[in-house]
Amino acid sequence: MNLNKIAYTALVAFGAAIATLVISHGLSGTRAGATEPPRAAPISREELARHNSRDGCWKAIDGTVYDITAYIPDHPSREEVVLAGCGKDASEGWHNKRPGVAHSGAASRLLSGYLIGELEDAAPPPPAAPRCERIP
Ligand code: HEM
Repeated sequence: MNLNKIAYTALVAFGAAIATLVISHGLSGTRAGATEPPRAAPISREELARHNSRDGCWKAIDGTVYDITAYIPDHPSREEVVLAGCGKDASEGWHNKRPGVAHSGAASRLLSGYLIGELEDAAPPPPAAPRCERIP
């Protein structure tokens, strides 16, 4: 095998490896790891309440239900902190991970990968923060 053939084979192998990576990343999509598929029908409070443990942890945050079971081992706090909101409306803990301190934008993006549906009869989400108007 001459040098050109070796270089060509290496290039093709490299291209195939890159294509495999890109395709597998694309297939994994935006769902970070919810163990349940998203529902079209709203999720009842009774069903939410049944998923109240490490083995099945659903949280309602601002009217949307997330199955965060797979994320629990990765959460950066003590486990009981994140387990406390399982099976409940956990909006308060989400918006105040510490008093007055909300989770980051990165945490919100992570959360969206665990979305499984909307909570039945949810209160409307809180109003958006007031916009800063420029003083002319
Ligand atoms: C709703 C109940 C929750 C409570 C009470 C809570 C509490 C906390 C606390 C106390 C910290 C600070 C940990 C430290 O710095 O040692 C933290 C950080 C963090 N939490 Fe949570 N958490 C909750 C849910 C979640 C969920 C559902 C996710 C994502 C799926 C999440 C993602 C994160 C991330 C990524 C951080 C790192 C800091 C940041 O990005 O804000 N948490 N959380």
